[in-house]
Amino acid sequence: MFELKQLLFPTFCAIIIFPFTLDLPTVSSETLSVSSRWIVDQSGARVKLACVNWAGHLEPMLPEGLDKQPISNITDLIVSSGFNCVRLTWATYMFTRAEFGGQTVGQSLSSFGLQAALDGVTNYNPNFTQLTLTEAYTEVVSELGKKGLMIILDNHVSKPSWCCGYSDGNGFWGDQFFDPAEWLMGLEAAANLSLDHNNVIGIGLRNEPRGPRSNSADWRKNIESGAETVHKVNDHLLVCAGGLSFSADLSFLFREPLTFSTPSIRQKLVYELHWYSWYSGLPYGSGNLNQICSSDMKRVMDAVGFLLTPDQPYTSPVLVSEFGLDQGGRDPTGNRFFDCFMTFAAKLDLDHALWALQGSYYERNGVRDLDETFGLLTHTWDAVRNPGFVQRLGALKYPLPSPVTFGFTTYSAIFHPATGLCVSARANTSLVLSSCGRGSSVWSYDTTTLMIIFSERSVISAPGEGFPAVVTHDAGCKGCQWNVVGGAQLQLQSQVGDKFLCLDGTSGTDITAETCLCLESSQCVNSAQVPTSQWFQFITMQSSQAGVTISSA
Ligand SMILES: *[C@@H]1O[C@H](CO)[C@@H](O)[C@H](O)[C@H]1NC(C)=O
Ligand SMILES: *[C@@H]1O[C@H](CO)[C@@H](O)[C@H](O)[C@H]1NC(C)=O
Ligand SMILES: *[C@@H]1O[C@H](CO)[C@@H](O)[C@H](O)[C@H]1NC(C)=O
Ligand SMILES: *[C@@H]1O[C@H](CO)[C@@H](O)[C@H](O)[C@H]1NC(C)=O
Repeated sequence: MFELKQLLFPTFCAIIIFPFTLDLPTVSSETLSVSSRWIVDQSGARVKLACVNWAGHLEPMLPEGLDKQPISNITDLIVSSGFNCVRLTWATYMFTRAEFGGQTVGQSLSSFGLQAALDGVTNYNPNFTQLTLTEAYTEVVSELGKKGLMIILDNHVSKPSWCCGYSDGNGFWGDQFFDPAEWLMGLEAAANLSLDHNNVIGIGLRNEPRGPRSNSADWRKNIESGAETVHKVNDHLLVCAGGLSFSADLSFLFREPLTFSTPSIRQKLVYELHWYSWYSGLPYGSGNLNQICSSDMKRVMDAVGFLLTPDQPYTSPVLVSEFGLDQGGRDPTGNRFFDCFMTFAAKLDLDHALWALQGSYYERNGVRDLDETFGLLTHTWDAVRNPGFVQRLGALKYPLPSPVTFGFTTYSAIFHPATGLCVSARANTSLVLSSCGRGSSVWSYDTTTLMIIFSERSVISAPGEGFPAVVTHDAGCKGCQWNVVGGAQLQLQSQVGDKFLCLDGTSGTDITAETCLCLESSQCVNSAQVPTSQWFQFITMQSSQAGVTISSA
């Protein structure tokens, strides 16, 4: 330890200076298109969607929460939580059947006996009560637009209700409530709405296709005609399509990609993926997380993630249009899933939409004022439930590679999914976790050598168990050879003497070298044991102007 300290190069740090803000631009559908696996604006620069779902498809057909807060307070919270977009759900019948969408908000809530909800709307959003349901939905779209939020209008169900059961009549074209012609009429109405609201950037053609009638041939035929219907009205819109098995499976596109009789639709096509812990069929809550995460990732890549592979006939952006977990932190399974999700959402740089904004429902499955434990907002809709979660999720905004490389600098950062931070070297040569992009260091990894890029070659070494890892100039030093290990291939291991140690990070303290966690399949089968403090993911970052500047202090 003492010897190694003398080898340290004492006084530098790496700072990436961004002389501009990284805040995401707000854009209209006219300016958006698809380039390879990215959604881009008209200059070709990346526009990364960071959305939150807002439900408006349940029986009352009114976006939730208008009984709890003034709408502008709700939209302010969406913006202050770092989202640039909302996936606003709707039921087909609202647009296609006058006896549904033509009711006023007051009539609709009253018809379900939801007097307390109606009183709340009257109190907080008085000018909504006399609007029809379609007018109210449109008003929510306007209010989101006032805050610069992009919107995807998501066709969630046909018959308004909580979604989604395997055989609930809403699952697949031709099901009891899911008439294909009526569905197209609903898409046309949603596209009509977008014509007056250029913050509507896309339409979700159908949420979670599923059920006994599911098959890829009918999916293909209907998705193609749905996209054509939308583009006949407004060809600026992105069209978003989720696959079979509840938006989890698009593997059938590998051999035969979608084609359209209007070829320009291909430049507006975005695929959707839904990803929750229970989609994996794996014991997320109880198995070795290194192995579970690696198996789940393989599942997701084979089913949908392959679409991100560049230069293939099927290459397209993938929007994870639903993922989520209990925001109260009460569900270890969800927490462990989210550790895995963060790792790969950062690695794959995924556009995403959290389930969900709503802290409560007017009524869901017969329960009034039901609490949404996955809700970003509290039951009273006046604050976020879990500020730490919001901060961690916000890290996914930073990996921003894009197809435009001219004048940009691309580099590697080391992401720590458990905190949402990146590894950076500090002046006194230890390593810490700090915000990705602004203060994080530029790295390279060459088989076994983990280097930080300064003006000179500097490598990371582990002096000993329990001690901070340090930056050194001596490439021949002990503890300088690093191997990627673990079932998820996310741990960085070095041999120091006769010990194998892994980098281990916690927010606010030095990164240390510790006994490697959960490397054997028999280890860490207790839900309290997670290796995530030792998970580090190399991610590609890009500075959006000429200068990533690396300076020494
Ligand atoms: C809504 O936001 C405004 C401005 O921040 C605040 O003064 C007001 O108290 C909020 N309304 C409620 C019901 O919390
Ligand atoms: C309803 O009231 C809100 C807040 O006062 C306002 O922003 C909005 O434009 C009004 N909408 C209608 C349809 O009058
Ligand atoms: C969409 O707008 C067109 C033109 O105003 C209208 O003819 C059509 O009926 C509308 N479609 C729906 C489903 O509302
Ligand atoms: C590094 O410097 C910080 C303050 O800048 C100090 O708190 C910390 O103890 C130092 N670490 C080492 C290993 O010297």
